[in-house]
Amino acid sequence: MIRLPELEYRILAALEPGKVVSVAELVEATGKDQSLIMAGATLLAKRGLVVVTEEANEEFTLTQEGAEVEGGRLPERIALEKIDKSGGTLAFAELPTLLNKKDVRAEVKWLTKKGWCSRDSGVLAITDAGRAALRERDSADERLIWYLCQGGYPFQQMDHALQHAGIDVAAARALLKGRDNLVKVKTRINRRLSLTEAGVALKAGGIKRAAEINQLTPEMLATPRLVQITNDMIAMGLFRRYDPNLPTAPKYPGKEHPLQRVIQEIRQAFFEMGFEEVASPTVDTAFWVFDALFQPQDHPAREMQDTFYMAEPKCGRLPDDKLVQAIARTHENGGDTGSTGWRYKWDIEKARQLVLRTHTTSASIRALAANPNPPRKVFCIGKTFRRENTDQTHLAEFMQIDGIIIDEQATLATLFGTLEAFYKKMGAEEVRFRPSFFPYTEPSAEVFAKMGSLGWVEMCGSGIFRPEVTRPLGCKVPVLAWGGGVERIAMLRFGLEDIRKLYMADIDWLRQARLSG
Ligand code: PHE
Repeated sequence: MIRLPELEYRILAALEPGKVVSVAELVEATGKDQSLIMAGATLLAKRGLVVVTEEANEEFTLTQEGAEVEGGRLPERIALEKIDKSGGTLAFAELPTLLNKKDVRAEVKWLTKKGWCSRDSGVLAITDAGRAALRERDSADERLIWYLCQGGYPFQQMDHALQHAGIDVAAARALLKGRDNLVKVKTRINRRLSLTEAGVALKAGGIKRAAEINQLTPEMLATPRLVQITNDMIAMGLFRRYDPNLPTAPKYPGKEHPLQRVIQEIRQAFFEMGFEEVASPTVDTAFWVFDALFQPQDHPAREMQDTFYMAEPKCGRLPDDKLVQAIARTHENGGDTGSTGWRYKWDIEKARQLVLRTHTTSASIRALAANPNPPRKVFCIGKTFRRENTDQTHLAEFMQIDGIIIDEQATLATLFGTLEAFYKKMGAEEVRFRPSFFPYTEPSAEVFAKMGSLGWVEMCGSGIFRPEVTRPLGCKVPVLAWGGGVERIAMLRFGLEDIRKLYMADIDWLRQARLSG
């Protein structure tokens, strides 16, 4: 007869020689939660009484969108059937009418990807594979979705259950690749326990539950029996070392948003390099966003389709007239910058227009105008806006980091050195520079960072401000300038392949994102 602590006792009691029992079943049998069972199992395994085997099991869950796929009939099947009914071929442009929906990109993508339709000079035609799909009425992915829609499946052995239901799990997985808007796949480790020979022998000799004290209470400390109790426990081998490596349930305490963390890291990096931070209006006059940067008033970036203009109020206040006149002259004839300017009539009304700033370079130029005396290093982080379609690497509302270095000794090497150090600090494997053009810098360069599977991604624009920018502000020394996306840095930092992830409330990702580097 041997006495065992409660947890180990309960687990051993639930195990029979020659039987393999899952942790889930032990949870059921003992009423203890999973992390406790695993802790007990680990202790028993260390003493050679049980073995723990692990088996990976794939778990599929439907998203909201997936749950709405009626009867497991995916949109491309519905499209396929309709194309079949209308004769087997269809002019591509007619598909929206046929399906009675505006956006048919998903249908077309999967019809062609699955090889159900060919697409040739604007015509969709059902292929042999498409005809086979029509006869078969469903495919592995649809069968899987249909099955999940029924509910009531056992999570613990989902792939056994799926196979049992006649679903080709591997084929379904292959077909569902890239469709995690419908079905999410998670790999779960199932752990199962069985007795070793030593465990069987121990059980055969008889096991008993020992009295166990898990916590010292103030009352216990106050009794003279404490010493007695402790000695008894030591004698019974019931004192256990505190083991921080035992498994527990994961905890997800509140934490900063990953993007917020990246912003703090960027600020820290620039502070460490001796920069001061400035703020600047999000809604600003075109004067500071464009004109002061020597961007001509007919520049395409200023057009309505690229820039958001304020409807109400339409105009804002300009700085003192001397500065406005200096900028006007620079645009018209170069003023005293040695340039010929853009040679057109500068319109003060256009400069008064209020816009949602399209870059934070407006902050840099405001900082330069406020104090052009070297040496200075200034940066700004803030929201910027462009009328842009969103995709993997673009957002219409995003954040930028802009910086300038005002220094007599500053050169292109200073600029490249600073930016390379910065982006490497943010996690870039490599940094590259490529000649480019901006209306306000000469020379200009685009900066690319290498990021994992995305390869080379453009991080920022940079250059040395032209005299047409610095002179009217009373600055006579070189000014290095750059500006680029903050979310791109976050992609780098968190290995994201889709920038939109940062603005979706994906709780799994938010929980798992590792904030410390
Ligand atoms: N403002 C530019 C952009 O938004 C970047 C830039 C800033 C380029 C400063 C040169 C100098 O892309």
